Amino acid sequence: MSAGSHQAPKGTFDVLPGEERVRTLISQHGAEILEAAGYGRIETPAFEETALFERGVGESTDIVRKEMFTFEDQGGRSMTLRPEGTAPICRAYVEHGMHKLPQPVKLWYAGPFFRYERPQEGRFRQFNQIGAEAVGTDSPLADAELIVLLDELLRGLGIEDAELRLSSLGTVESRAAYREELRSYLREHEGELSADVRSRIDANPLRAFDADHEGTRAVMASAPTMLESLAEADAEHLGAVRRMLDAAAVPYRLDGTLVRGLDYYTRTVFEFTCDRLGAQSGIGGGGRYDGLVEQLGGPPTPGVGWAAGIERILLAMRDAPPDRVPEAFVIAADGDHERAFGVALQLRRARLATRVDLAARSAKAQMKQADRSGARFAVILAEGGAVRLRDMSGGEEREVPEDELADEIAGS
Ligand code: HAM
Repeated sequence: MSAGSHQAPKGTFDVLPGEERVRTLISQHGAEILEAAGYGRIETPAFEETALFERGVGESTDIVRKEMFTFEDQGGRSMTLRPEGTAPICRAYVEHGMHKLPQPVKLWYAGPFFRYERPQEGRFRQFNQIGAEAVGTDSPLADAELIVLLDELLRGLGIEDAELRLSSLGTVESRAAYREELRSYLREHEGELSADVRSRIDANPLRAFDADHEGTRAVMASAPTMLESLAEADAEHLGAVRRMLDAAAVPYRLDGTLVRGLDYYTRTVFEFTCDRLGAQSGIGGGGRYDGLVEQLGGPPTPGVGWAAGIERILLAMRDAPPDRVPEAFVIAADGDHERAFGVALQLRRARLATRVDLAARSAKAQMKQADRSGARFAVILAEGGAVRLRDMSGGEEREVPEDELADEIAGS
């Protein structure tokens, strides 16, 4: 490598065409499922004012404390590359007066997100999410719809072995008493906890459930959970979500130790995990955020949603979808490559996926290429102007008038 060469920054990657194709398939599949259910695509900027994430995601979260790509712009304002999509969507909901639309407003999005995390398999500093949000309803119907959609999205990609974990964090008010109970429990076991968890007993005691530290994990195995302390209305809400998941035949495991890395959650939280992914097992997750819009300066507005990592989906997909094969490969057997180029264009304009050699190779080499491409037909341009259509699977050849080629290929 020469002294002047460059590499993609740590934790980022280039997506080359073979993989890009699979990524496109994933987002198209997601788009189909979400649009069919009435979600409209929204795009928000790749960076926002830093304060949006500080207020939205929460000052005591790992994301805000140590994972944001924050910079000062030339005007002296603090900006941050978006680490997640929900706070920006709530910002857009308020900014565009979407509370005046019929509720809930159902939105989906896909694009790059940025977190300064320690890179490893399935964990990157620039990664992609596809996500969906229903803003403006507190009904458990919305929670159930969204969970079922994510389940469908993953299954449709052949990911059948993801486990769905489900819990409820109650409302902010009902959680206050529980947090106090958890704090006293943590203080009783302070000596066994990691320094990080210890330092956050006051600010964010629930995060202790998420620790990797062995001592902390042992303590948390017998910690009281929010699920055991739910207020009646919260328990009913969760009960309704569960009934609808049961009716939809979407299996799940209730797990009171499920906490998420963002502060805005209330009531329902969920996560699809896949053990095959190793340490970064979360494929997608989300939950309800009934206070977030108001916290960002809007009217009191409940909401619920999820996001899934495209790179984690790719890792969880066992079988890559088959390569796209062309319909036709045009071969200049007569050596007239410009004629072949023209015929290929004609077929492409008729919406047939068509390839043609661009390196003026010999007829034999073109035939080899056609074979390798998996094309259904070879269009062989012979000396004297004749055009032969060769079925690549059976090997039969027949002569076809040039102006009937497209119909002939499309119809067979
Ligand atoms: P999250 O759990 O932080 O939630 O991220 C969602 C998904 O993004 C994860 O399950 C994972 O697949 C992927 N992901 C996160 N960080 C990385 C990373 N460093 N590298 C690769 N993939 C990653 C949210 O972001 C919430 N906004 C979800 C939500 C929407 N909640 C309500 N509405």
